[in-house]
Amino acid sequence: MSSIKSSDPDSTPVLLVGVDFGLPHFDADLQELGLLAQTAGLRPVARLTCKRKTPDAALFVGSGKADEIRLLAQMHDAKEVLFDQSLSPAQQRNLERYLQLPVNDRTLLILEIFAQRARSHEGKLQVELARLQYLSTRLVRRWSHLERQRGGIGTRGGPGETQIELDRRMINEAIKRTRERLVKVKRQRATQRRQRQRRDTFNISLVGYTNAGKSTLFNALVKARAYAADQLFATLDTTTRQLYLDEASGSASLSDTVGFIRDLPHGLVDAFQATLQEAVDADLLLHVVDAANPGHPEQIAQVQRVLAEIGAAQIPQLLVFNKYDAVAPELRPSQRQDMYELDGRQVPRIFVSAREGEGIVALREQLAQMVRSAAAGLEMPPAQGVELPDAAG
Ligand code: GTP
Repeated sequence: MSSIKSSDPDSTPVLLVGVDFGLPHFDADLQELGLLAQTAGLRPVARLTCKRKTPDAALFVGSGKADEIRLLAQMHDAKEVLFDQSLSPAQQRNLERYLQLPVNDRTLLILEIFAQRARSHEGKLQVELARLQYLSTRLVRRWSHLERQRGGIGTRGGPGETQIELDRRMINEAIKRTRERLVKVKRQRATQRRQRQRRDTFNISLVGYTNAGKSTLFNALVKARAYAADQLFATLDTTTRQLYLDEASGSASLSDTVGFIRDLPHGLVDAFQATLQEAVDADLLLHVVDAANPGHPEQIAQVQRVLAEIGAAQIPQLLVFNKYDAVAPELRPSQRQDMYELDGRQVPRIFVSAREGEGIVALREQLAQMVRSAAAGLEMPPAQGVELPDAAG
């Protein structure tokens, strides 16, 4: 049990709860939940952890722990309780009754963040669909936008139709409508993509765990101003720019994609396929890794898992180990470019610091070389084991 200091006094105070089922990275995961909460505009005020072998069917935790949660929430005046794991609809309902407070889980939090951040029409529709799908399993009346849509649907069911049936029908209709709108938007997007491909452009997509520094690297490479912030999921919509490499290689197109995360709600993985489609269609994936984060091997594995799910596992990759400046000196590699074993494949790797601009020239050169090899129909060249000067660029 611990209290947390936080800065924004106006945001909703929340209590974080993590149940340790003996899985590795438990602490890192709970820390990530805190960052997710802040990203969603909440203020974690206290944290409670406990160990269990299996979740309690009714309350997820035991009733003794639930009493502790209630007490701690009162002590810190928390207005909401956030669980790091997914709760079943029944567990969520029971906990809310027991604690007399709104209870949410990681899935809902991620959905909320995505909803806050989606900017393009397509992004918004995708999030809406995922939210509706989540909602259809939990008929909890806390969604004001749905309440508003209610009038729009207009037709009431026959006599005797219960509130739940009405809700379910309303949600299913909203799902159907959103799907239809999404199909239209996707069609437009596919046309745009085909036009790009027809121009014979070499397509590069940035992928990586959320907060790895994709947008910062994108900006450093193309000097655009994609949004970069120390929050999770600052980017939700794909941005594509021309990336000039050199005279011999010309330009490539570079796309920044949505950040990956552990336990991305499945509805979102599905719904975001269109956004990630840029990654599926790429000739090369720049897989950005936060080299300064000790949990980066697990983050790489997570990204690999999602890439496999969307059918992008076989696309050539260049691993960009970013935030080199923040890597402890004793952990810095002697070589700034080498090979890394990724799911049994040898993948070229380069260390850079996107924010400081360090290693960007070398990265650009490596990309130019890869584009030339691809144009000549050759296998992409492996990274050279050269030692780079520590100077910027
Ligand atoms: P999502 O949109 O969440 O997927 O994030 P992202 O991968 O696009 O990361 P973003 O570029 O927003 O960077 C996340 C944070 O890392 C920001 O605070 C950046 O300033 C910081 N950052 C990016 N590159 C570097 C770097 O080379 N060194 C250090 N120390 N920090 C960096």
